[in-house]
Amino acid sequence: MSSSRGERRATLLPFFLFLFLCIIFSHGVEASSLKEQVVGYGYSISSVASDQFGKSLTATLNLINSSSLYGPDIPRLKLSASFENKDRLRVRITDFTHQRWEIPQQVIPRGSYYRRRALSVKQFPSSNQHQLKLSVTTANSDLMFTLHNTTPFGFTISRKSSEDILFDTSPDPSNPSTFLVFKDQYLQLSSSLPSERASLYGFGEHTKSSFKLQPNQTLTLWNAGTGSSNLDLNLYGSHPFYMDVRKGSKDGEVKDGSTHGVLLLNSNGMDVFYGGDRITYKVIGGVLDLYFFAGSSPELVMEQYTELIGRPAPMPYWSFGFHQCRWGYKNVSDLKGVVGNYAKAQIPLEVMWTDIDYMDAYKDFTLDPVNFPLDKMKTFVDTLHQNGQKYVLILDPGINVNQTYATFVRGLEDDIYIKRNGVNYLGQVWPGPVYYPDFLNPSSQKFWGREIKLFRDLIPFDGIWLDMNELSNFITSPSNPSSSLDNPPYKINNSGVMQEINYRTVPATSLHFGNIAEYDSHNLYGLLESKATNEVLKDISGIRPFILSRSTFVSSGKYTAHWTGDNAATWNDLAYSIPSILNFGIFGIPMVGADICGFSGNTTEELCRRWIQLGAFYPFARDHSDNTSNRQELYLWDSVAASARKVLGLRYRLLPYLYTLMYEAHTKGTPIARPLFFSFPEDVTTYDISSQFLLGKGVLVSPVLESGAVTVNAYFPAGNWFDLFNFTNSVSAESGKYVTLDAPSDHINVHVGEGNILAMQGEALTTEATRNTAFHLVVVVSSSKTSYGQVYLDDGETLDISGENEPWTLVSFYGALQKNSVFVASNVTNGRFALDQRWIIEKVTFLGIPKHKRISCMNGRGSMKKMVVKTHSDDSSQFAIIQVSELSLLVGEEFKLEIE
Ligand code: GLC
Repeated sequence: MSSSRGERRATLLPFFLFLFLCIIFSHGVEASSLKEQVVGYGYSISSVASDQFGKSLTATLNLINSSSLYGPDIPRLKLSASFENKDRLRVRITDFTHQRWEIPQQVIPRGSYYRRRALSVKQFPSSNQHQLKLSVTTANSDLMFTLHNTTPFGFTISRKSSEDILFDTSPDPSNPSTFLVFKDQYLQLSSSLPSERASLYGFGEHTKSSFKLQPNQTLTLWNAGTGSSNLDLNLYGSHPFYMDVRKGSKDGEVKDGSTHGVLLLNSNGMDVFYGGDRITYKVIGGVLDLYFFAGSSPELVMEQYTELIGRPAPMPYWSFGFHQCRWGYKNVSDLKGVVGNYAKAQIPLEVMWTDIDYMDAYKDFTLDPVNFPLDKMKTFVDTLHQNGQKYVLILDPGINVNQTYATFVRGLEDDIYIKRNGVNYLGQVWPGPVYYPDFLNPSSQKFWGREIKLFRDLIPFDGIWLDMNELSNFITSPSNPSSSLDNPPYKINNSGVMQEINYRTVPATSLHFGNIAEYDSHNLYGLLESKATNEVLKDISGIRPFILSRSTFVSSGKYTAHWTGDNAATWNDLAYSIPSILNFGIFGIPMVGADICGFSGNTTEELCRRWIQLGAFYPFARDHSDNTSNRQELYLWDSVAASARKVLGLRYRLLPYLYTLMYEAHTKGTPIARPLFFSFPEDVTTYDISSQFLLGKGVLVSPVLESGAVTVNAYFPAGNWFDLFNFTNSVSAESGKYVTLDAPSDHINVHVGEGNILAMQGEALTTEATRNTAFHLVVVVSSSKTSYGQVYLDDGETLDISGENEPWTLVSFYGALQKNSVFVASNVTNGRFALDQRWIIEKVTFLGIPKHKRISCMNGRGSMKKMVVKTHSDDSSQFAIIQVSELSLLVGEEFKLEIE
C-alpha cells in the first residue's frame, strides 16, 4: 500500500445516496427511480497516447464525480494496454501519481510495464467526444483492445476474427456495481458477458458441485485453512483466473468452443461476483493488472497462461505411484505394519507418509524420541528405499516458541519471523505458541534451507508436504481498531459470513521484510514457502523435488503439487473432487489429488472402494485420513483390496502415459486431468460435465459417484471408445451421447477414444519395478484421422526434463488404418536417454478396426525379426482386435510395423 493511505480527500458527491444505491444494486434489487441520480460517477479519459505501431496505448483517467463509500476515490488513474506477445494482452489500471502494492517481480517474474517508450500523443477530438473509439492490436493477434471515450469511459477486448466481444467494461449508467471504482482499499471492475454463450471455469480455491461456474455467486479469494468439505467457501489458495469457453454465435461468425482466458494478477483479498451476464471484481488493494489470453482453444489458453506464470514443475516418476498417509500413525511399528500389509495384500504402495505424529511435540525438524526415534526411523526409511519405495514427511510453517528448541533459536538469530507492532507475531498452531518464518525475507531462504538440510542429513526423506501455510492460526488476534488494514472498509465474504480478514490467520497489520503488509501479501505465503522449499531441495539433492502444498497462488505449479485439503468421507465430497481437480489443472497445478476414501469422518467399505476406483486416476493418488476417523488403508476390506489391485494395476500400466502427460504439462501447461471440452471443444454438451474427466487427450474416466449404484450414465463425445480393462466393451457415438454403462461394485469405466496411441507397461508393486517391464502399445485407429501418441523417457528424476542436451527421449507414435492394412510407426526426438534392452515394445494392440476391413493378418512388415499376430473379436462387437506379440522393438529407435 502506498504511504498516502488516508490522505486522499473525498470530493463532493452525496455520500449517502451512493452508499444506499450500492447496497441496493449490489444485492440485485432494481431501483429504477434512483437510476438517474448516480449518472456521473466514474472516470473519463483526459488524454491518450499510443505508440507509433498501434500496439499499445496509455490513457489518463480523471474522476468525474466521487463518492466516499469504502474510502476516498483516487482522482487520477493511468490505464495502459499493451500486447506482450500476439496472444497476450495486458491491461493495467493504477494510481497516476502514487506507486501501489504489486506482487514483487522476484515472486512472479513478468514483463515490467513502464519501460515501454515511443509513445506519441493521440487525442480524442474535443468535439463530439462521445462514442469515439481508439483501438490497439498487433500483427497476427486475434485480440483487439478498444478504448471507448464515453462518460464514464469503458474498454472492450474483442476477437478480430469473429468480432466477438470477450470483455466489456462499458458501464451501465443505471447500475453502480458496473462502474470502475478505484480507491485505496476498494477496486471494482466489471465486464458484461453473453450469458447464453459464455461458460466460465476457474477462480479458486473453492469446493464446488459444478465445474462450470453457476450464475449468481460470489467467489471469495483469501487463503484460509477452512476444511474443503465446506462447499463454496474460500479455501487454501487464490487463483484469480478464469477460462471462458464460448458457444458459437447465431450468425456463425463465432465457432463453438472458441476459448480465451483472463487473469487478474493481484494478491489482495477479493470477491468476484459472477452473475451469468456479468463478472465483477471487488478487490481490496493492489492494482488492476489484467491479462487476456487469446486461445482460441482451451489447450492454447493453458499454453499462453503458463507461459506467463511459469510452467508446471516436473514431477519425479515415483510420485505417480500410490501414496499412503494418515494423521494418527502411532509409531514406527505402526508404519511398518502398514507397509507390510500392503505388500501382503499385493496392492502397490509407492510412498509412505508421516503426518505431524512423527515430530517431538509437533516441532518441525524433530522426531518424537519415544514413538519415532531416530534409529528406528532411519532403518524404516532405509528399508523403504531398499524396496524401491519412498518416504514423505510433513512440515508446518509455525516454529514453536521455545528457547530449548534449536530451530526456533536459530530463527531468532536470523531474525526471520513475521512481525507485528515491532515484535515477532505470536500465533498458535499444533505445537502451541509459534512464530512464522517470513518467506519474503531473503534470510528465510537460508534459514529454511539450513533446517531442511540438517534434518535430511538425519532422515533421508524423498519429498516434503507443506501444510497449514495459508497461514493457519488457531487464534484470531484482536484487530488494531484504528487500522484500516485490520478493518478494511469493504468486507470480503471471508468464510461465507464476511468474517474479518484476520480470522484465524496472521493479522493484516503484520509486517514482512521490506515493510510489506500481510494485508497485501497474505495470499502469497504458500507460494513463497513452496518456492523456497523447491530451491532448497534442488540444492541439496540435485534431483527433481517433490513438494505437496496446501496453500497455492498463481504460479505455484512451478514448484509444487497440491491436494484438495480436508475433505470428508462422504459421497458428495467424492463427487466434488472432480471439479476441484479439474480446476487445479487450469490453475497450472496439474499434479493434484483429493484425499482418497475421505479425510474426516468414518469412510465405509463401499465409499472407499468407489473412491480408490476414482482416485487411481487422479494425477496424484494418496489415501489420507484424520486422527479421529477409523483407519482406511486399502487392504482393510477384501472388496476394497480387490478393487485397488484392479484399478491401481491399470494406473501402473498407464504410468508411461501419465508421466508423458506430466512432460506435456511441463512443456505446454496442458493439464494431466482435463475437462472433456479440452479434447472436444466443439461439443457443447461437454461444457456442463462435472462427473467425468479425461486423462490427457483420450482416456475417459466415468466413475460411480453414488451409493448403491451399479451403473453409470456417462457421456461419450463422438467417436469409438474402448474399455481399457478388456479392450472390448466398446461405445460408438456418431455424435456425442449419454450411455448407461454397467459399473458393478468392483469396476470403474475407463475408455480410450479413437485416434489415440497409448504406451503402457506392465503391472508391478512399485513404479521402479514397472519400469523393468516391456511396453505395450495400444493403437486405437480411426477412420477419419491418423492416430497419435507420445511417450517421454528419462531416468525419472533428472532436474531438467526438456533441456536440449539432457538425457531424455521423446517418442511420437502415429498409426492409421489403410485399405488392406493397419500400421504404427515412430519418430524419435532428442534420443539421449540411455537405451538398454529393457525398453522394448513387446506387444502392439490395434483397436477400432471394423470387422469388414480385409486385413488378413497374414503378413507383418517392418523392422522386427519376430512377431505373432492374432486377431479376435466377440460377436457383439463391430470391431476386430489385432494383437501383435513377441516383438522386440526398441522404444527409442524409429520403427514401422504394418499388418496386412
Ligand atoms: C491439516 C491437514 C491435514 C493434516 C492435519 C494434521 O488439517 O490439512 O491433511 O492431516 O492438518 O497435520
